[in-house]
Amino acid sequence: MTINEIQKQILSLKKEYDFCILAHSYQAREIIEIADFTGDSFALSQMATKADNKNILMCGVRFMAETVKILSPEKNVYLSNENAGCPMAEQMDKELISSVKKQFPDYTVVAYINTTADLKTICDVCVTSSSAVKIVNKIENKNILFIPDCNLGAYVAEQVKDKNIKLLQGGCPIHAVVSKNDVLKSKERHPGAKILIHPECVPEVVKLADFVGSTSEIMNYAINSPEKEFLIGTEMSIAEHLQYTCPDKMFYPLSKKLLCPNMKMTTLVDVLNCIKNKSNEIILDDETISKARLCIDKMIELG
Ligand code: 13P
Ligand code: SF4
Repeated sequence: MTINEIQKQILSLKKEYDFCILAHSYQAREIIEIADFTGDSFALSQMATKADNKNILMCGVRFMAETVKILSPEKNVYLSNENAGCPMAEQMDKELISSVKKQFPDYTVVAYINTTADLKTICDVCVTSSSAVKIVNKIENKNILFIPDCNLGAYVAEQVKDKNIKLLQGGCPIHAVVSKNDVLKSKERHPGAKILIHPECVPEVVKLADFVGSTSEIMNYAINSPEKEFLIGTEMSIAEHLQYTCPDKMFYPLSKKLLCPNMKMTTLVDVLNCIKNKSNEIILDDETISKARLCIDKMIELG
C-alpha cells in the first residue's frame, strides 16, 4: 500500500469507529496530515475534552496520552505506538520525589507536564513550557521545587528572580544535546537568520536566542514574523512543518541531533492497527486520575 492509500483507509476507519486523532507537532508529516488536531501536549489534551468522539488516539508519547485520559476519563484513550515513551517524563518517579519532598517540606512542587500520571499525583501544580513563567510567578510560596527539567527550570528562575527555585538534574536528552558551538556555527552559515529556541535547551544556548518559546510559540513567531530565515532550536519536525506552511521563508534545524526517536516511532500502520484493533488503551485507576487531575486543574486555574 502507498502512504496515500493507508491515509485514506485511516480517514475512513476513524469515522466508522468514532475516533478523534491527535498529533503532537513533533510527529512526521504524514501523521500530521491525518490528524483532527495538532499542537503541543496541553493544547491537544484540551482539544480532546471538546471532541465529541468516544475514542481518542494520541500520536505522540505516553505522558501525552495519559494527560488526555486524566482530562477525559469517560473516553477511551489510545497511544498509537505502545513503546513511545518520553525519557524526560520517565526520569523521576514517585519514590524519588517523595523522598525529596521530605527534605524540602515547605516547597511547592511544580511539575512540567512532561511527567507521568503517577508522578503528577504527588505534585502541586503542572506547567507547560509556555505557561511556566506565568504560573511560577503566581504561586504564593517563595520556595519552589521545579521538576524534572533543570533547563526549563533554570529559564524560569532567570525570569522570576524573587523565588527560591530548587532544581534537580533532569531534562530532555534531545534538546539538551544542542551546544553553544552548534548555534555559533549555524549562525556563521546563516548570518541573517533569527534564532528561535525551546527552553528545554541548556542555558548557554537559550542565552543566544532571539526568541525563546514552546513549540507552538516558536511556530507562531516564525509564521507571523516579517523575517525570512530562521534557525530552529527544537525537534527538527518543527523546521520541516514550518517549511511547508511558509514556503517563501527558510527554516534550518540548529543541529542534526534534534531528532526525538520516541516521537518518530509512530507510523501510519501503527495508527491504522490501533484504530482497527483498539489496541494500546491507556488504563489509569480512578485514584490516579483524580489526584493527578488536581495539579492539572491548578495549572488551568493559574495559567
Ligand atoms: P511543547 O510542545 O509543550 O513545547 O513540549 C516540547 C516537548 O518536548 C514535547 O515533548
Ligand atoms: Fe521527551 Fe524530549 Fe522527546 Fe519531548 S523531545 S518527547 S521531552 S525526549
